[in-house]
Amino acid sequence: MCGIVGYLGKSRAAPILLEGLRKLEYRGYDSAGIATIESTGDLRVERSVGKLRDFEATLPLDELDGLVGIGHTRWATHGKPDKANAHPHIDSSQSVAVVHNGIIENHRDLRRELTNLGHNFRSQTDTEVIAQLIEHYLHNDVPLHDAVRTCLNRLEGTYAVAVLSRHAPKEIIVGRHASPLVIGVGNEETLVASDVPAMLQHTKNFIVMQDGEMARLTNNHIDLITLEGEPILREAEEHPWDADMAEKGGFTHFMQKEIYEQPRAIADTIGERTTTLSSRFTLDELSEIDGKLSGINRAIILACGTSWHAGLVGKYYLEEIAGIPTEVDYGSEHQYRKALVDNNCLIIPISQSGETFDTLAAMRAAARGGGPVVAICNVLGSTMAREADAVVFTRAGLEIGVAATKTFSSVLAVLYLVATHLGALRTSISSEECSTLISNINKAPTLLEQALKQESTLESLADKFHNVLDFLYIGRGINYPIALEGALKLKEISYIHAEGYPAGEMKHGPIALITDEMPVIALAPQDDVYEKMLSNIEEAKTRDGLVIAIGFEGDSVLEGQADHFVPMPNCPRLLTPIVLSIPVQILAYHIAVQRGCDVDQPRNLAKTVTVE
Ligand code: M6R
Repeated sequence: MCGIVGYLGKSRAAPILLEGLRKLEYRGYDSAGIATIESTGDLRVERSVGKLRDFEATLPLDELDGLVGIGHTRWATHGKPDKANAHPHIDSSQSVAVVHNGIIENHRDLRRELTNLGHNFRSQTDTEVIAQLIEHYLHNDVPLHDAVRTCLNRLEGTYAVAVLSRHAPKEIIVGRHASPLVIGVGNEETLVASDVPAMLQHTKNFIVMQDGEMARLTNNHIDLITLEGEPILREAEEHPWDADMAEKGGFTHFMQKEIYEQPRAIADTIGERTTTLSSRFTLDELSEIDGKLSGINRAIILACGTSWHAGLVGKYYLEEIAGIPTEVDYGSEHQYRKALVDNNCLIIPISQSGETFDTLAAMRAAARGGGPVVAICNVLGSTMAREADAVVFTRAGLEIGVAATKTFSSVLAVLYLVATHLGALRTSISSEECSTLISNINKAPTLLEQALKQESTLESLADKFHNVLDFLYIGRGINYPIALEGALKLKEISYIHAEGYPAGEMKHGPIALITDEMPVIALAPQDDVYEKMLSNIEEAKTRDGLVIAIGFEGDSVLEGQADHFVPMPNCPRLLTPIVLSIPVQILAYHIAVQRGCDVDQPRNLAKTVTVE
């Protein structure tokens, strides 16, 4: 995690670094800092503990006139979140500054070696060894980029680094191994950052660095080389996102804005893929590997967090639409078990960021079995997108709120399309069924618009229940994953304990928890398990449970049975998880707001988990 940024150009670097860090704060917010080369030639380092706004409050911005600089926003791994451990880290002679995202696994050995050589360490971080090691190699006439290259070749673990030194005041040296890093190519200015949004104010042209690469950046030149020193030729590519996406656009929080963007996100995700509606629906992204796809006999979905919940819905789609037996595994679990994945198994890693460490590790482990890898992610150029055999991108646009919302529903839409493509390819659905499925998913944007109209009902429920200690979410079948997702949303942004449970399992234990102080959110659209859900709700009511039911509008039976009712538009069964994700997101959002929580930057979290 952590976000890094660098700038060289004609403008003062410090304000640009701050602006970039603002766009990267979703990656961590334990501390922040910048280093610049001032007009005097001095290396100046400023840093502080806490969020970026705390750093800005202490920063003497007007004093900083350097045109070159690097910055960092931290999610602490090694060393507690205090000022000494905040980046940039500097060497003993205070001539080299380093910002880093990742974990240096051999930092203890290097620290011991460098301490014996007389280097003076000031922090508990793994990163400081990089600054000290560069200092060690930066002697006599060795240029900065060579010293950095020698240093990087000694590191074990993961890193994206940017290095600044007063010995080379007009350049920044960067390197990448298993943590994302992108170079922005501007007009007489060059930027570098963990992610594209930090640079969109300045350029739309980017070079995505790959593992084992480093670069020497000046304001008008980029030397991209391997860690062995071999030159690499790679042109910059234009990115479709624009700077407005990183603004709140009148909403109070990014999360709220992103919830409201869902009709547009789903429309863009399904849009051009389904407009040429024919009886044999095809996803262009998959057509090149159709040969491999027609031979598979099962699938495994790999993901973490919210993406894993999307994967659970994907299991229903793949089994029901495409007739493919499907397993869903956590990235963090899959890589450490002896999973039986052969070349007849379709591997579907799901990741909004495309950079989640555990999902990437699981994808690589599963891919060793030889089966085709079809990734679903939201970020172009991400590691997952580059390594998979094929990618079906969500078109949700930039998501800044740490809690995933629009990317979740967009992944569900992509999974629906992938299942329909496979169903058509394997003729497990008829051409009429295929047309119906496609015409149904095209209704999703309108359905989501209608679902969003229930915000005031959900806000009053939040008003009533924001002080309770526990929530239970129950659902069955294809909406059981939405119960899990609703509970996760509430936990991560409001810090209320919540559990998601398959409603039919309640009587095997959790029903013992039910009291009138623990609201039960029951997801009960009129689908194939509706009657069963009514029974489960009744079981909760009989034990004094307080039920908030979310179901189809006009369902007077459900409304009569529950204590509170949230009506959702009536829709085809396979679309219910997409529609019901809206009320669980809005409820969590308003509960968190009413509790005074930092909705976009919840404690202890970072949006992209690039460490194990
Ligand atoms: O970028 P990814 O989809 O791989 O991220 C996976 C999880 O870290 C992520 O979904 C996390 O659970 C969200 N904060 C949930 O809102």
